[in-house]
Formats: sequence, C-alpha cells, structure tokens
Amino acid sequence: MLNLIIFGAPGTGKGTQSLNLIEKYNLVHLSTGDILREELKTGTEIGLKAKKYIDEGLLVPDSIIIDLLFDRADKIIGPKGFIFDGFPRNTVQAEELDKVVVEKNTSISLVLHLDVTEEELTKRILLRSQNSGRADDTEEVVKKRVEVYIQQTMPLLDYYRKQGKLITIHGMGTIDEVFSRISAAIDNYITSNN
Ligand code: AP5
Ligand code: MG
Repeated sequence: MLNLIIFGAPGTGKGTQSLNLIEKYNLVHLSTGDILREELKTGTEIGLKAKKYIDEGLLVPDSIIIDLLFDRADKIIGPKGFIFDGFPRNTVQAEELDKVVVEKNTSISLVLHLDVTEEELTKRILLRSQNSGRADDTEEVVKKRVEVYIQQTMPLLDYYRKQGKLITIHGMGTIDEVFSRISAAIDNYITSNN
C-alpha cells in the first residue's frame, strides 16, 4: 500500500502534483485546503469559522482540521493508498495522523517535500491569483503563509526525517520535470519495498 504526504510551502505544487499522482498510482487525494474552501463556498459552520484564518494566511485551529480528518478517515484510509496534501501542518496534526493510521493498521510510506525558492512560489501564486478567486493569493498574505510555514510546518521535516520517511524533491522547473523526479522517488521506494 502506498500512502503519501506531499509537503511544502504554499505554491510549491502540492495540488498540481497530487492530481498527477492519484492518476499514476491510483490514490485517494485529501487536501485540507480544498475541503476548507469547499466548506466556505457552501457556507457551512466550519467554512465560516475557517474563513478569517484562511484570509489572513494563518493556520485554521487544529480542532477543526482534526474533526475534518476523522469525519473522512473511513473513506480515505482504505483499500487504495492515499495522498495527503497540505496536511499535517504542525506537530499536533502529525501526531493525530500517526494515531489514525495505526488504528487503521497501515502506515505512511513517504513524505515528499517539494523544495522551491520563495521568489518562484510567490511568482506562481501571483500568476494564479488572476483567476483562482482565492482571497489568500495576494502578495501580502503569501508572505504571511510562508512565515507560518517556516515557523509551524517546517519543524515537521525533522519529525519525518527521524522516521526515515522524508524525501526532498527539487521543485523548480516544469510541472513534468518535477513529476518525473517525484515518480522516480516513489518507484525507487516501491522497488526496494517489494
Ligand atoms: P492550502 O490550500 O493547503 O494552500 P497552500 O499550502 O498555501 O498551498 P497552495 O494550495 O497555494 O499551493 P500548492 O502547493 O498546492 O501549489 P499548486 O499546485 O496550487 O491551504 C490554504 C489555507 O487553508 C491555509 O493557509 C490555512 O489557512 C488553511 N489550511 C489548509 N490546510 C490546513 C491544515 N492542515 N491546518 C490548518 N490550516 C489549514 O501550484 C501553485 C500554482 O503554481 C498553480 O497555479 C500551478 O498551476 C502552478 N505550478 C505548479 N507547479 C508548477 C511548476 N513546476 N512550474 C510553474 N508553475 C507551477
Ligand atoms: Mg494546494
């Protein structure tokens, strides 16, 4: 079973590469950002609570995110492998995920960390802002999102390095080039675990 986490700062290509990966490796995709934006669009209580954090580039409180995960765990952690995108984002979330995964008798295979310069990710997000409709795709909020990533999310690199699961992928270049690097890392994992 292939269970992946795609990890990286805003705009590094987590969502883009997840869509390629679910096709190639037949995985279920869970993006907490996509779920929150969907909740916001349909005007649910969760969406309304999350809005102010998303708009300011801050993390939504763990209690909300963990409830979202538990609500969906049965659908995501199943016979197909999964790919988590934008989750976990801090140690509390990572520890909760480890617990859920153990309860389901499975494990995380790899954490794929996309490494992109701040200049490049800002360029990508500002280009996307022309039609994304995302309130957090402004230069000011991107700066805040990067800051939050460095302070709260980056420490997880060490958490997964210690578990021997971390692979850093050079995230610059075209979407296809990055996808080839990710695929090579996964194929290598599959070969050496069979
Ligand atoms: P989330 O939705 O997770 O956003 P993010 O991490 O900031 O990342 P993005 O979705 O902006 O970028 P991405 O890495 O997916 O890149 P993409 O593929 O789109 O989170 C948003 C907010 O929700 C958070 O700030 C927080 O408030 C809340 N939230 C979500 N999860 C949470 C959690 N677990 N806990 C607490 N709060 C949470 O690519 C970006 C652009 O670049 C696209 O236009 C794409 O086409 C383009 N692109 C991609 N790859 C390339 C390439 N190689 N070359 C050129 N362009 C490229
Ligand atoms: Mg995304």
